[in-house]
Amino acid sequence: MRDNPEYSRRIILAVDEVSKDSVDRIIDATSPFIEIYKIGSIAFTVFGPSIIDEIINRGKEVFLDLKYFDIPNTVSKAVQQAVSYGVKMLTLHTLGGYDMLKAAAEANKGKATLLGVTLLTSLDAAQIGRIGIEHDVPDMVGRLAVLARDAGIDGLVASGHELEELRNILGDKPVIVVPGIRIQNGIPAGDQKRVVSPKRAFESGADYIVIGRPVTESADPADAVQKILNTLTRGE
Ligand code: C5P
Repeated sequence: MRDNPEYSRRIILAVDEVSKDSVDRIIDATSPFIEIYKIGSIAFTVFGPSIIDEIINRGKEVFLDLKYFDIPNTVSKAVQQAVSYGVKMLTLHTLGGYDMLKAAAEANKGKATLLGVTLLTSLDAAQIGRIGIEHDVPDMVGRLAVLARDAGIDGLVASGHELEELRNILGDKPVIVVPGIRIQNGIPAGDQKRVVSPKRAFESGADYIVIGRPVTESADPADAVQKILNTLTRGE
């Protein structure tokens, strides 16, 4: 088990808010404990690139989670623009295919950590089947992970349930970020289907975990982060 400050740098807080007051309230409350904030399609659509500047100006880092999924030329230009904002991490869908992933890696030029999303943690086997994917979840995640690695992507966003298998396939090198985190007696899983606890995620090989609503929907976000850190350091 690593010590508290180190965990603090490995918990990414998802800021999926539409009101600036909520964004400010959440960041003000959690900034003593959180170093990386995740800006996804919600906050980016509402506030635009200025939200990235604001977080960087507070001395924090930004994980820009726009999950690019388009033709290689479009993704390449979007990645070039995103890395010019100084983001630390950036996501794209591995289902976009090898050429798209390679174009993104080339456009990035090693500036941000490029992370491939395999299968969203909100998808369970039934939904994946309805899409028409006939491989089971672990097999499909493994295939997409190898594809991303071969295309030069730095790491993956993956469910805690596939982590150990991914480490077996890919080894220690790729950065793995795990969303779909829930804590005991916390808020319900909601739309997240393949959830794990913070402790289980780190034990299984996560470099970072992403937590959103268990903290942002709490009446006391700072207390919620501290409780998560406590579960890690006490080994609960
Ligand atoms: O609120 P919650 O803790 O469920 O937030 C999880 C965050 O991680 C959301 O911002 C969601 O977009 C993101 N995410 C995810 N599953 C992925 C990739 C990202 O839930 N595979």
